[in-house]
Amino acid sequence: MSNQCSLHSANASPTQVLKDEHRVIEKVLDATKRALRHASIDRSFFEKALDFLRNFADGCHHAKEEDELFPALEKSGIPRDGGPIGCMLKEHEEGRSFVRTIADNLEAAAGGNRVAEGVLRQAAEGYVELLREHIQKEDNVLFVLADQALGPDEQKLLLAAFDRAERSNGNCRKHEQYVALADELSQWTFSTV
Ligand SMILES: [Fe+2]
Ligand SMILES: [Fe+2]
Repeated sequence: MSNQCSLHSANASPTQVLKDEHRVIEKVLDATKRALRHASIDRSFFEKALDFLRNFADGCHHAKEEDELFPALEKSGIPRDGGPIGCMLKEHEEGRSFVRTIADNLEAAAGGNRVAEGVLRQAAEGYVELLREHIQKEDNVLFVLADQALGPDEQKLLLAAFDRAERSNGNCRKHEQYVALADELSQWTFSTV
């Protein structure tokens, strides 16, 4: 019988847990790309996408990377500044800036303000492109380094820290709700053409 508090199987690695979350985030990136192909801005879609991006992609997933994985990698000798960790942190910040711009312009853009719509579209395109590339770099470079750098004991400690985050971080606690939200956004019927 599996432990009900744990969202990953007993033999998962920390990087596999994060990769699984990347696949959920990619669903929302693809859905956002689809939203941008429509002639007007679907407010309800973007409100839900912002909830996901702020609270799951950033508040849970990036928090696990920044609070648990990256410090463990630094301890194992992978440098933060001038190396892949510093680069990933910078990209997380760039993502937050794009998300703020989308949020700041959503109401006006959905109300028909063309300037706000243009700014929102550019920020959303920028975010999708940034995050897709960011995820590729983590999956194919940083996580490969991490698998080599972290021994079995360190991996176990990281998995335990992720489990703690799933219980104590309010955003991670809603993990299953955000997985369902990603599916909802993937199947979204847009209110405009
Ligand atoms: Fe990241
Ligand atoms: Fe990530």
